[in-house]
Amino acid sequence: MLSVVAVAVAALILTVTHPGQTIFRSPIEAAQTTQSPLQTTETPLNTKQTTALQLLLHANPPVIRTHISIPLHNAHPSFVTFAGPSTGKTVVLIHGFPETGLLSWSSQILFLGQNGYNVIVPDLRGFNGSYHADTPVSDYNYINAALDIKLLLEAFVPRVGHDSGALTTWVLVRDNPELFACVVQLAGVHDLAYMDLMLFSPWKFIKHSWYIICIRTFGSIFSLAERFLAANNFEMLVNVAFGTSIPGAYSVEDIEEYKDIWKKPFFLTSMKFQLAWYRYTAPFSHSLKLFNRGKSEIPSFIPVTLVWGAKDPYFPVEHLNSLILQRINHTKTIMYENNTHWLQREIPDEINRVLDEAFSKAFSFPSTMDN
Ligand SMILES: *[C@@H]1O[C@H](CO)[C@@H](O)[C@H](O)[C@H]1NC(C)=O
Ligand SMILES: *[C@@H]1O[C@H](CO)[C@@H](O)[C@H](O)[C@H]1NC(C)=O
Ligand SMILES: *[C@@H]1O[C@H](CO)[C@@H](O)[C@H](O)[C@H]1NC(C)=O
Repeated sequence: MLSVVAVAVAALILTVTHPGQTIFRSPIEAAQTTQSPLQTTETPLNTKQTTALQLLLHANPPVIRTHISIPLHNAHPSFVTFAGPSTGKTVVLIHGFPETGLLSWSSQILFLGQNGYNVIVPDLRGFNGSYHADTPVSDYNYINAALDIKLLLEAFVPRVGHDSGALTTWVLVRDNPELFACVVQLAGVHDLAYMDLMLFSPWKFIKHSWYIICIRTFGSIFSLAERFLAANNFEMLVNVAFGTSIPGAYSVEDIEEYKDIWKKPFFLTSMKFQLAWYRYTAPFSHSLKLFNRGKSEIPSFIPVTLVWGAKDPYFPVEHLNSLILQRINHTKTIMYENNTHWLQREIPDEINRVLDEAFSKAFSFPSTMDN
């Protein structure tokens, strides 16, 4: 959410380019954790389960294959859920701030897993306890997260990103286009487009991103940003984040589960690693590095779908049109006029339909919805 993030607008618009140029290669067998060189540990799901987790655990037919802690580079652990048949086409679902993979994507895990996809859902570094005492806080950013996920992949995969997860996705696909059959971004903030805004329209940048500047500036003084967001048992964080979603998108139980996660092992530690993402993307420190990376964009043979809620408060619609589409114009853009930033929770069935359509096309098989 917050972030350098995402989103925008009204009514269905679309621009599809070069569908004929999509390269369909036969997908390599999906990453099988048992064959992985990474050492893994089985981790039981929390005993206190939210409605979202109940849905997944008691799904009939069963959908979750395994949930394990995997140490990625710098030895930090990442909790990863595998769902659906391992022989299916691989899909990776990447969550944003301040979420976890399981809770953010529960409806999509259920739908895609039951429809034959091999679904991989990692917690990004810094989230849900995915950190390691020896790793410097400055290593918790979307560039490193992209490397983490690359380690998880041995297949050509479509990838769905949301929010901070979207940043990770752009980097991953820009650097490894050969791995991907397609990309779907929900509220898909784009690092280089954001940098354009910062450099060329600084007032607009400040207007829409004041909270990033605050997190960056005040964070270093007595962890003020951490303390502010954690105040009153995280009510502040809940308000600035899920408070902008339409009622019902997150249940009371979901919110309680998030609060439990954010408290561990200690609220300042947990928030520090999550906010590190904003500190990395915040103004000035890394702009030049990012600009240099920007020389390469996503190649046009990879179909990109951008999905936006018109009422997303974190990233105004004009940015999509004036910034992102200037950088990547082989996209299909879908707008939901009545929705906000939290699309996969607000309109899960509709998002599942969009994913199914994009993946069926990319993998060249009939949509499950047609059956
Ligand atoms: C968070 O990670 C732990 C493993 O460290 C896992 O048991 C738990 O289910 C995860 N929670 C969510 C909501 O993803
Ligand atoms: C967008 O498309 C136009 C042609 O329609 C092309 O000239 C331009 O280079 C494209 N921009 C990017 C960033 O791909
Ligand atoms: C959005 O909300 C308005 C007012 O409630 C309604 O008329 C319209 O049909 C909605 N649009 C969609 C796409 O659901």
